Amino acid sequence: MKPIQVGLLGIGTVGSGTFTVLNRNQEEIRRRAGRGIEISMVADLDVERARGIVGDRARVVADAREVIANPEIDIVVELIGGYGIAKTLVLEAIAAGKHVVTANKALLAVHGTEIFEAARAQGVMVAFEAAVAGGIPIIKALREGLTANRIEWVAGIINGTTNFILSEMRSKGLDFAAVLKQAQALGYAEADPTFDIEGVDAAHKATIMSAIAFGVPVQFDKAYVEGITALQAADIRYAEQLGYRIKLLGITKRRDDLATAPGGAGGIELRVHPTLVPSQRLIANVEGAMNAVVVQGDAVGSTLYYGKGAGAEPTASAVIADLVDITRLHTADPDHRVPHLAFQPGSLQDTPI
Ligand code: HSE
Repeated sequence: MKPIQVGLLGIGTVGSGTFTVLNRNQEEIRRRAGRGIEISMVADLDVERARGIVGDRARVVADAREVIANPEIDIVVELIGGYGIAKTLVLEAIAAGKHVVTANKALLAVHGTEIFEAARAQGVMVAFEAAVAGGIPIIKALREGLTANRIEWVAGIINGTTNFILSEMRSKGLDFAAVLKQAQALGYAEADPTFDIEGVDAAHKATIMSAIAFGVPVQFDKAYVEGITALQAADIRYAEQLGYRIKLLGITKRRDDLATAPGGAGGIELRVHPTLVPSQRLIANVEGAMNAVVVQGDAVGSTLYYGKGAGAEPTASAVIADLVDITRLHTADPDHRVPHLAFQPGSLQDTPI
């Protein structure tokens, strides 16, 4: 069977990592997907740079709409980022009947409901494992591995930049500004690092996890968001003396006691803020630009997921997992496809946060 055809929109760190991993593990990936996966087109405004990365493996164009309009392309991978043109292109790709894979947490946290509705109406899939915690398969864990559970809460270190900053401040006694520069130089930070340090990036990711865990729409605007900019080295020192580490946690929690929703269905907490975590807890010992997520389910109890939350190959690992999922489902009877790989609206749909 002809390999499934993929078009990449935007080729930077994650895009080139995706090429590398697809190429290196192509035989295993083909076997697992039941069919080859080929990136045959790439769109990037900087065509020369893109050609330098891609070589002769794919056709490079400047205009993303050429990829979307190509009837040969089955899956569009959006790696542009942000809420602007990325949103327009994702909606256009869906309207053109393409499945979409995206690593764009900001887009999904703010416009996810509109995007998933459009995908549902078109009968295409939108997959986004790479949007939360990079290489950690947390979306799959919440959506599939823990599907038997009533999820009670999810809490995690889901921004590597801030965890790196807090770790360096604690272990080396460095000040905030110096460590931020290091994090940017190492490529962990967002293009606009205020999204990292003000907690916005973590809140985008927590919003997405909340939607999956509790079957509620994405409601980023309802999240409580506080970053780490007000923290000083002394806060970290005092916390340590008291037996705690300070971690920026994204937390989302079922609150059955908030019987404010129709039918008294309860509510959901959604918050990001620096948190005092007892030093002996596993999550307190997650250091550097790593991510870790704890999920509490009623049947399974507590489970912990740990790994790299950013970087070329860890994020590519998640993008390719989505490509494999879609490739498998694409060949299934359309009536039996998961229409979109997002939250399933349920009784908590109108739940206030
Ligand atoms: N800036 C993000 C982080 C990148 O530091 O975790 C991955 O989403």
